[in-house]
Amino acid sequence: MKNLLLLLALVVLLTEARAQNYDESKVPPYTLPDVLKTTGRKKVKSEKTWENVRRPEIRKLFEDNIYGQTPTRYDSIRYVVSEGQSVMEGRAKHREVLIEVFRQGKQVKIDLVLLLPSNVERPVPVFVLINNRGKENTDPSRKIKSEFWPAEMVIDSGYAVAAFHVSDLAPDNKDTYSNGVLQLYPEQLAADNGMRAIGAWAWGASRVMDYFGTDTDIDAKKVVVVGHSRGGKASLWAAAQDRRFAICVTNCSGNTGAALARRQFGERISRINTTFPHWFNNNYKKYNDRENALPVDQHMLIALVAPRPVYATNASKDLWADPKGTFLSLKNAERVYGLYEMRSALPADPPGINEPIIRSPLAYHIREGEHNLTAYDWGNFIHFANYHFKISK
Ligand code: GCU
Repeated sequence: MKNLLLLLALVVLLTEARAQNYDESKVPPYTLPDVLKTTGRKKVKSEKTWENVRRPEIRKLFEDNIYGQTPTRYDSIRYVVSEGQSVMEGRAKHREVLIEVFRQGKQVKIDLVLLLPSNVERPVPVFVLINNRGKENTDPSRKIKSEFWPAEMVIDSGYAVAAFHVSDLAPDNKDTYSNGVLQLYPEQLAADNGMRAIGAWAWGASRVMDYFGTDTDIDAKKVVVVGHSRGGKASLWAAAQDRRFAICVTNCSGNTGAALARRQFGERISRINTTFPHWFNNNYKKYNDRENALPVDQHMLIALVAPRPVYATNASKDLWADPKGTFLSLKNAERVYGLYEMRSALPADPPGINEPIIRSPLAYHIREGEHNLTAYDWGNFIHFANYHFKISK
C-alpha cells in the first residue's frame, strides 16, 4: 500500500513536471505551421489569396480544433436601454443596456455596463471589457473603483467605457457552463467542434457589437475589445472572427490565447484541458501532450485579426502565461500584416520590462509584476488606440 502511494505520488510529480516547464533551455525544438502556406501547400503572396483562401482556412482550423463553431443565427435581438445616473462629478453618464437574444423559445440576457463621457463630441470611440472577474470590478455607480476597469481614466481620455460579464453567456464552471448561450444552441453540445465557454464569451462580445451599431453616441467603427487572461483568449477569438472590432487587446492571455503552444512553456494544452474542460471543444483534447500535431499555432490566431491592430501583454512574474511565447506569436504574425503593407515596429527580441512598444499594428509590453490587468496596462491601451484612431492628445 505504501509503495503504491509512493508510486502514485511519483506519477503525479512527473506529470506536473512535464506539464510546466519554466526553463528556457528546455523548450523543445519546434517548427511553426506556415501562416502563409495553404493546406494545399500553395504560397500566399497577396492580400487577396490571404483573404479568400488562407484566412478562411485558418479560421476553420481554429473553429474545428480549438474554440468551436460560432453560430450567428438567432430569432431576434432586443435592446432595453435606460438612462442612468450621472457619475464622476458629471464627467460621465451611465446608460443601462440589457441585450436580450432569442432563439427557439430560449433567451440570453447580457447586462452591458456603459459609461459615456459628457461634454465630448459624439459619436465616441469605446473600450469594452470582457469581464472574467467579479461584477464589482465594473461598478457603474463608481462607488467601487477597480484598476481592472479604470473607468475614470478611459472617460477622461474621451472614450466611452463598457463591460459585460462572462457569466451572462456561459458560467465559468465545468458543470454549469451550458447554462447560457448554449441553451440557444443545444446542438453545439453534441458536436466535437461545438461551441464551449470561451466561444460563448466571444459570441457575447459580438452581440455587444450588434448593440454598438445601434447607439448613435458610439462610433461603432472604433470599438476596442479588451480581455484579460481567460477573457483575453476570448477577446482574441472574438476579434479574429468579427471584423467589426477595430482593435484587439489580449492581456496576459497565455496558453490558447496569445502564447505559442509549441514552446510548451508554462501552462500546456493537457493542463488547460484538464483544469478547464469546458473552455474548448472536444477535438482540442486530442492535442493533450501533442502540441506539434496541431494544424495551427497561436500566431495564426493573431494573424486572423490583420490588418487590424493587436496589443498583447504579459507580466514579469507571470511565467505561466509564457511572455516570450506571446512576443514570438506577434512576431510570427508580422508577415500577414506585411501583406497589407503594415509595418510592425516590434524589435527582434522581447523588450525590457515596462518598455512598451505601442506605435505599431502589433504592440507589446511586459509589465513589472503579477498576472493582472492594471492601470499601467490600460494607460498603454489608450495610447495605442489614440495612435491608431489618430486621436491627438
Ligand atoms: C488559469 C489558467 C489560465 C488563465 C488564467 C486566468 O491560470 O490556467 O489559462 O488564463 O487562469 O484566466 O486568470
